[in-house]
Amino acid sequence: MYMQSPFARCAFLLFLVSATVAQPKSFDIANFGGKPDGDITEAITNAWKEACASVTPSKITIPKGNFKLGVVDLKGPCKAPIEIQVDGTILAPPDIALMKGAYQWVKFQYLNGFTLSGTGTFDGQGPIAWKQNDCAQNKNCKMPTMNFGFNFLNNSIVLGVTSKDSKNFHVNVLGCNNFTFDGFKIIAPPESPNTDGIHIGRSTEVHIKNAKIGTGDDCVSLGDGSKNVSVENTECGPGHGISVGSLGRYDKEDPVEGFTVKNCTLTNTDNGVRIKTWPGTPGAITVTDMHFEDIVMNNVSNPTPSKIKISKVTFKNIRGTSATPEGVVLICSSGVPCEGVELSDIKLTFNGAEAKAKCANVKPLIQGAAPACAA
Ligand SMILES: *[C@@H]1O[C@H](CO)[C@@H](O)[C@H](O)[C@H]1NC(C)=O
Ligand SMILES: *[C@@H]1O[C@H](CO)[C@@H](O)[C@H](O)[C@H]1NC(C)=O
Ligand SMILES: *[C@@H]1O[C@H](CO)[C@@H](O)[C@H](O)[C@H]1NC(C)=O
Ligand SMILES: *[C@@H]1O[C@H](CO)[C@@H](O)[C@H](O)[C@H]1NC(C)=O
Ligand SMILES: *[C@@H]1O[C@H](CO)[C@@H](O)[C@H](O)[C@H]1NC(C)=O
Repeated sequence: MYMQSPFARCAFLLFLVSATVAQPKSFDIANFGGKPDGDITEAITNAWKEACASVTPSKITIPKGNFKLGVVDLKGPCKAPIEIQVDGTILAPPDIALMKGAYQWVKFQYLNGFTLSGTGTFDGQGPIAWKQNDCAQNKNCKMPTMNFGFNFLNNSIVLGVTSKDSKNFHVNVLGCNNFTFDGFKIIAPPESPNTDGIHIGRSTEVHIKNAKIGTGDDCVSLGDGSKNVSVENTECGPGHGISVGSLGRYDKEDPVEGFTVKNCTLTNTDNGVRIKTWPGTPGAITVTDMHFEDIVMNNVSNPTPSKIKISKVTFKNIRGTSATPEGVVLICSSGVPCEGVELSDIKLTFNGAEAKAKCANVKPLIQGAAPACAA
């Protein structure tokens, strides 16, 4: 038998060790001219160019301190995974004119194995834009800029990081596959208009966990083509709650399948978990496999409304206080009644008494304690 010399074995081990501890190539924003209290738009763009061209993994760091940042589009495909670690506070221009009509302030696109991490904050400095927002009255209003666009990313993660006071939605997730938000925070005042937390569309396997979302609109919302999305161990409120929809506004919408909301607390939200559709639904969009479990609602105005053709929806172990007499509202369409709806262990109170359930075109299967369905 061939015997390996001790030296050869040793060299082999050494190689393994050095391979596992290999550090990603480091790009500190300071080395690209990014200074605290300065504008880092050019620095981050140049650091990104080098990181994206690197054939080994790389990491761009933005240290503690305040930094100004204009609109950026950080695009792939890149040659190897990239992490951006942000520990400082990044400030958007408060003036809408300086956003140059951009749909999103910080865009990450066409990447595989991307990580955004750190204890830092992206502050959209929204108050001026909120005052100018007339979208509630004016259908042709100009939508202000969102904080983040995560578009066409695979196997990517946002770890930590805070999004604050976006001018519009905080985060839009589009065309992503296997994308996780872990420990992500969103902060905006309850009266700020259209500051939805995370909107997901045409994406699969998007998982939100350990998040804290307080905002002026939906905490999390799902648009068409969302598949296998979950929200777990997350606090939502203030805000409008967790929504599927609005759906059915356009033709040719893709189905929404597989949505799990588990161990979440909703506090002072207008709604709990709801499925929203447009009344004159043109497309026959299907919504199926929705599961809401272990949810605590504190003073939620409309805990569980829904109004769409839906199937396989379960509400399980939902407790807390409702701000209205109806704790559960299941209004399904008469043309396409809801199927396979299950309510189990629902304990919602209104002014100390048990909240009621209001139902139409649905015969939910009731297990354990749950309010009886009345029209
Ligand atoms: C992401 O995955 C999709 C589907 O596998 C693939 O078509 C696309 O090229 C991938 N994008 C990147 C940037 O790797
Ligand atoms: C999903 O992405 C993560 C990185 O965020 C990666 O570790 C994991 O292997 C990916 N899962 C699959 C099924 O590819
Ligand atoms: C969604 O998850 C289910 C169950 O884990 C799996 O069978 C299905 O393939 C997934 N669908 C997509 C589009 O990833
Ligand atoms: C439920 O979520 C909270 C955070 O909101 C977390 O602290 C707790 O550990 C979670 N419980 C379980 C059983 O995962
Ligand atoms: C409960 O919600 C109502 C209506 O949204 C609000 O006016 C009230 O202040 C909330 N109560 C508490 C204790 O937060």
